[in-house]
Amino acid sequence: MNGPVNDTPILAIRDLQIDAVPAGGPPRRLVDGVSLSVAAGEVLGIVGQSGSGKSLSAFAVARLLPDGVRLAAGSVHLGGQRIDDLDEGRMRALRGGRIGFVFQDPLSSFNPVRTIGSILIESIRRHQRLDAKSARALAVEMLTRMRLPGKDACVDAYPHQLSGGQRQRAMIALALANGPDLLIADEPTTALDPTIQLQILALLKQQTAGRASILITHDFSVAAAICNQIAVMHQGRLVESGPAAQVLTDPQHDYTRSLLRHARLAPAATGEA
Ligand SMILES: Nc1ncnc2c1ncn2[C@@H]1O[C@H](COP(=O)(O)OP(=O)(O)O)[C@@H](O)[C@H]1O
Ligand SMILES: [Mg+2]
Repeated sequence: MNGPVNDTPILAIRDLQIDAVPAGGPPRRLVDGVSLSVAAGEVLGIVGQSGSGKSLSAFAVARLLPDGVRLAAGSVHLGGQRIDDLDEGRMRALRGGRIGFVFQDPLSSFNPVRTIGSILIESIRRHQRLDAKSARALAVEMLTRMRLPGKDACVDAYPHQLSGGQRQRAMIALALANGPDLLIADEPTTALDPTIQLQILALLKQQTAGRASILITHDFSVAAAICNQIAVMHQGRLVESGPAAQVLTDPQHDYTRSLLRHARLAPAATGEA
């Protein structure tokens, strides 16, 4: 990056503790002592097996925890401002505004009876002062930027009319429409065919420039493709984190080594000839 370095990270999570609180039973710790930070221009990969606490850790940032799960302790700062104690109205303004989300399965995240455009326009108008016409123009612009085809870039299409890869492009357009500082993508390519996965990863890599991004994946090869920082989670704890090149080539933990052995990394990612 050029220019002076601002050393306040966009996102700083400190000592997160997340509990399951079953009705009538004692709380059970699901995430224990996770601390992470992400600076502008960084893509942090959170890597670990299914159930290791990746999604809960990332979604706790915007207090998007499922029923029966609560943030028991810890703090979250966005751009230096504490946000874990914001009231619900202010938190709602951050979601889809300064924090954009991409989920694994866009078909279940999009309302099937609404066009892609109407979903985008609603989000744009909730977060920006734009009239209907300008909001639609911005929706078309975002979809075009994500390379959706046609003159209007599928703005009037329904989710089921798009392919899986196109739907994920539309979801990335939605996540980025309000210019978020922080982008959180949870297994964004897991549901896609391998060639489409590569296209979506390339698109994400391009779109993460200048913001802070978190990419959640169980697949080290996905993290290796676009992340410059990697954090490895195992059973609710962070086992290791650092620059991607270091974690990939010189892992400090047995667990990281075993995950890496099972990943099909391109030779360039590990520095092997
Ligand atoms: N609503 C819930 N109630 C109880 N436990 C949950 C709930 N959601 C997730 N968990 C548990 O929390 C752990 C971490 O979940 P999650 O963060 O979704 O894992 P990952 O994203 O790494 O696959 C898992 O053991 C999961 O079973
Ligand atoms: Mg998950």
